Amino acid sequence: MEAGYREELLAALRLQLEWGVDEALEDAPVDRFAARAPVPEAPPPTLAAPALAAPAARPAARAVLPLVPPPAAAAAALAAAAQDLAALKSAIAEADSPLRDTATNLVFSDGVAESGLMMVGEAPGADEDRLGRPFVGVSGQLLDRMLASIGLDRTKNFYLTNILPWRPPGNRTPTDAEITLFLPFLMRHIELVRPRHLVLLGGVSAKALLRSKDGITRLRGRWHQVETPSGPLPALATLHPAYLLRTPSAKREAWSDLLLLRRTLDGDAAPR
Ligand code: URA
Repeated sequence: MEAGYREELLAALRLQLEWGVDEALEDAPVDRFAARAPVPEAPPPTLAAPALAAPAARPAARAVLPLVPPPAAAAAALAAAAQDLAALKSAIAEADSPLRDTATNLVFSDGVAESGLMMVGEAPGADEDRLGRPFVGVSGQLLDRMLASIGLDRTKNFYLTNILPWRPPGNRTPTDAEITLFLPFLMRHIELVRPRHLVLLGGVSAKALLRSKDGITRLRGRWHQVETPSGPLPALATLHPAYLLRTPSAKREAWSDLLLLRRTLDGDAAPR
């Protein structure tokens, strides 16, 4: 790259930073100059021999299987081959996804895998992306305080992960395609951790794992079953801590969900 052009690009980038741009909102860079380039004109007609009559239509070709498997199938194969959590983390890092290009760190998990209790959130935010650990930002701090109120502590008795291991640019909601791509990794994650109970934090997590179209307000507050390769697993759907930060009045429902979780863990309320 020419030195002058490089300086120009750096100056443009500096200006954007001064104007307060702090993150990329699209999954892939867009070359706006190329987008504005003039469309090349069609070549002039030649005086060559008149075009031959169109060949007779051929019989339809037989469907050919794609040489490259679709991304979700490739993800499922990578996930199935992982024999432990370290291998699963490497497999996720290997899986091709535009989210990987825009994120800083892979956010795999935190907490105690052997605790028997696994919580599944939505996707990393800016703090999680920076530190490579789930739920370390403001909503994570609220989650820790809420769980501490029923005697749970991520350094002792629960484990945490997310539906997506990479931060979606600008914290947008995960797309269906992203969820489909990463779901095989999450299912394998659950299979390797072998929890006795799952807690689904928020609508994205609850809908994806319960394969439901219902919103979180309908799903929360009761035990469901998540179908896993090792059998059905009790899963409690509850409100996401980020929602509770925006809607403090909903903490009442979240508290009732926490009490249900506590009673179940104590063996007082068998998951229904
Ligand atoms: N929100 C989530 O769902 N997960 C995180 O890790 C952080 C915020």
